[in-house]
Amino acid sequence: DAGEVLLSPEDYETAARARLDRAVYDFIAGGSGDEVTLRGERAAYDRYRLRPRTLVDVSHCDPGTTLLGSPVSFPVGVAPMAYHRLVDAEGETATVRAAGAVGALTVTSTFASRTIEETARAASGPLWLQLYVLRERKVTESLVRRAEAAGYRALVITVDAPRMARRERDLRNGFSLPPHIRPVNLDDGQSGGLHGSRAGSSTLAEHAARHHDAAFTWQDLAWLRSLTSLPLVLKGVLTGQDARQAAELGVEGLIVSTHGGRQLDGAIAALDALPEVVAAVPETCEVLVDGGIRRGTDVLKALALGARGVLVGRPVLWGLAVDGAAGAERVLATLRAELTDAMALTGRPALDAIAPDLLHLSPAATA
Ligand code: FNR
Repeated sequence: DAGEVLLSPEDYETAARARLDRAVYDFIAGGSGDEVTLRGERAAYDRYRLRPRTLVDVSHCDPGTTLLGSPVSFPVGVAPMAYHRLVDAEGETATVRAAGAVGALTVTSTFASRTIEETARAASGPLWLQLYVLRERKVTESLVRRAEAAGYRALVITVDAPRMARRERDLRNGFSLPPHIRPVNLDDGQSGGLHGSRAGSSTLAEHAARHHDAAFTWQDLAWLRSLTSLPLVLKGVLTGQDARQAAELGVEGLIVSTHGGRQLDGAIAALDALPEVVAAVPETCEVLVDGGIRRGTDVLKALALGARGVLVGRPVLWGLAVDGAAGAERVLATLRAELTDAMALTGRPALDAIAPDLLHLSPAATA
């Protein structure tokens, strides 16, 4: 629309919804089961309120930092999400340009619709590769080698999806990939069976059931550790126990996550699991969090509870759906501007001044 002014992630979602096929919108927006955890991710942020300090010199607020040693202009990255070409003809290469333009990290998915190498060529900021461990270990190993060769800086192993949870929106819609979209980084042996819609089933769930290695354990993680010198990050850890075990195996980073409410429905909100995870690992292990982060103040809350940084998922795809790379860039740039505003208005001009004393927990508070 001429004159359509889009500001918040919600504005972008509304505009994206009007442009996308219903089944694609539902695939992105939805969660598993009753979507209790999906809603809980947002609710967790709204329970915290901020305790600003006044009369602090906030004429310079700097949200710049590093994530596993890579400089970023603010502690935010794009979460790994499958098939960006569902919403934009260009897909992941557009997303990674957007992130580079604002100095954000990008994590690309195993199920990207652009190749590892194409995405790397389009990147100007740091890139990490997300891996699902597949039954065919040689495929995982070849993805690791390609990531190393293409200059990716870390590997993110998603550990909350030994199988795909039941996502009823996808089952109802008979969700499957349109013919022109494929998981281009996988071999022919792994990339079939994703097309052809049937009501009552999701080809993505069936694919995960066939190819994700549900027998992958801590012992096997040692195999992955020995395979590469790239930093390893586990995504989907929600307890101090798992965090401690990961750190003992030499994992450099953790992403506290419920997969955006798309896996175990009823799981604790990632924000609520964050303090326990942070307390369980040495400071050298960097802890990120994702799920439900929509505003600069949400980033501030996560940092106050000990996160080194955060990832943002759906809002980036809404931006991409509305206006390609420019839309994704605006969504990320807005988040960065809001974070800087929030630092100024809370009297925390530097990231190292952000601590738990910034927060007030009001369990009864609603949005
Ligand atoms: C995801 N997510 C995800 N995670 C992952 O490790 N590998 C993947 O391939 C995908 N794919 C994917 C597709 C779509 C459409 C969505 C919405 C999400 C989960 C993602 O990385 C992240 O954990 C959540 O999206 C974060 O929550 P928000 O910011 O979307 O609320």
